[in-house]
Amino acid sequence: MIKLLNQLIQVRISALDIDTSVDFYVNQVGMRVVRRDDSGVYLRSWGDYYESSVVLVDGPEPALHTMTWRTESDEALEEAARRVAAAGIVGEWRPRAAGFGRSFVFTGPWGHTVQLVWDVDRFHGEEGDASIYPDRPERRSSHGVAPRQLDHVTVAASDVKAFTAWHSEVLGFRTMAHTTLEQGGFSVFSVLTTNEKSHDLGVVLDGSSKAGRANHFAYWVDTREDLLRAADILMENGIPMEYGPSIHGIGEQNFLYFRDPSGFRIEVNTGGYRNYVPDWQPYEWHPAQGSNNFYRNGQMPHSMTESFPPADGPSATEEGVLPGTEQQLLNPYAEHGLG
Ligand SMILES: [Fe+2]
Repeated sequence: MIKLLNQLIQVRISALDIDTSVDFYVNQVGMRVVRRDDSGVYLRSWGDYYESSVVLVDGPEPALHTMTWRTESDEALEEAARRVAAAGIVGEWRPRAAGFGRSFVFTGPWGHTVQLVWDVDRFHGEEGDASIYPDRPERRSSHGVAPRQLDHVTVAASDVKAFTAWHSEVLGFRTMAHTTLEQGGFSVFSVLTTNEKSHDLGVVLDGSSKAGRANHFAYWVDTREDLLRAADILMENGIPMEYGPSIHGIGEQNFLYFRDPSGFRIEVNTGGYRNYVPDWQPYEWHPAQGSNNFYRNGQMPHSMTESFPPADGPSATEEGVLPGTEQQLLNPYAEHGLG
């Protein structure tokens, strides 16, 4: 099978107050607005190769509207669309718009809207924005968090293993790791990738009755020092750290999490392994092995179990909640010593 997907290139998220959110993403995160029209406000980080990576749209509650993936070629786009249709999903072709050529858009089995595109406008900074280095889309920014580029998105689904299998079989993601509870044996988290990192797509267990929810999206910074500087700047500006800075065991990536003005969770991410193993077999991690927290010495805040839009909360898997595992389902990392 040809390789289908190349990279996550854009997330479209809702903003309760668009001007407040734009101000936050510009002045705290350090992105800049490159397009503003009836379809949303388009922002980019300095290292994004394409025009924009985050789009803000008006909405009554925090939510992920669309995640956009670039394919490996036009042939791969056709093949991906064919495979989605063969899986029983009805999608639609959309014409060129906002820096993208024609794209194929569908809603996956767990309610997430996915856009696939090959033809994408490259970004080249002009005048004062241009880099002295020819491979950079624009000069390095030091404003706010100053992320280099979009890194990954983590959604929520009612059956983590089934979500992972579908995306591996239909769209060709490599499945890299699962987190499975010792008690009950069901999976609460999995990571999938189109590249050498542990993930550009994550999925957390959603026990609510609402489909299409998301947990966070993440930016990339070049170094751990950049990540610690980001935490320092955000704290000084009154934006609390929801969790971190620390390191995930799975993927060995440095992380920190905070919220945007609408309440949507943002991660800043760096480091991690490089994995090129084509027949990699995902390991079933347990929280006690440090799947979430490498150092196994921190309690994950309960707020981290919130996904968006808000719903009736974690309640059950498709198999139901096993007696005695309710608390683990809500937050398997809530006890000291569970990573
Ligand atoms: Fe993440």
